[in-house]
Amino acid sequence: MTSFVLNGKTVEVDLDPATPLLWALRDSLGLTGTKFGCGMALCGACTVHLDGKAIRSCVAPLSRVEGKQVTTIEGLSPDSSHPLQRAWIEIDVPQCGYCQSGQIMSAAVLLREIPKPTDQDIDEAMGGNICRCGTYPRIRRAIHRAAEMAPERNKS
Ligand code: FES
Ligand code: FES
Repeated sequence: MTSFVLNGKTVEVDLDPATPLLWALRDSLGLTGTKFGCGMALCGACTVHLDGKAIRSCVAPLSRVEGKQVTTIEGLSPDSSHPLQRAWIEIDVPQCGYCQSGQIMSAAVLLREIPKPTDQDIDEAMGGNICRCGTYPRIRRAIHRAAEMAPERNKS
């Protein structure tokens, strides 16, 4: 049994501790906002936060999250009010949408660490998140927009 705090609530999953967190989230806990892309830590579609840091859940075994705090896209805000979510909607970032929860989760860590990122900061922080639809220019604009919207909120 692995126990951890998921989006503010303690959860337990009865799976092999070597099971990737991604599958526990999607199949056992029903949170399908986090996506499977490559399964090899190469695309960023599965990005979640582990104790506030962005990790690739497709290669993070459950044993790594025991007793820790995990946040998924579903837990970023209770009502899609996080500045990044509002900016994403305002700028209409997604095309197919598949990569976008991972993009937002990586961007959330960036804004917490660098509240007013430059284009270079964004490119460095987001370089591991692949978008096959090429929405990178809109992602960059939306991150700048979120940074303008609510710098205080981005710290949480
Ligand atoms: S699915 Fe995890 S990085 Fe691609
Ligand atoms: S919006 Fe389609 S992969 Fe990014």
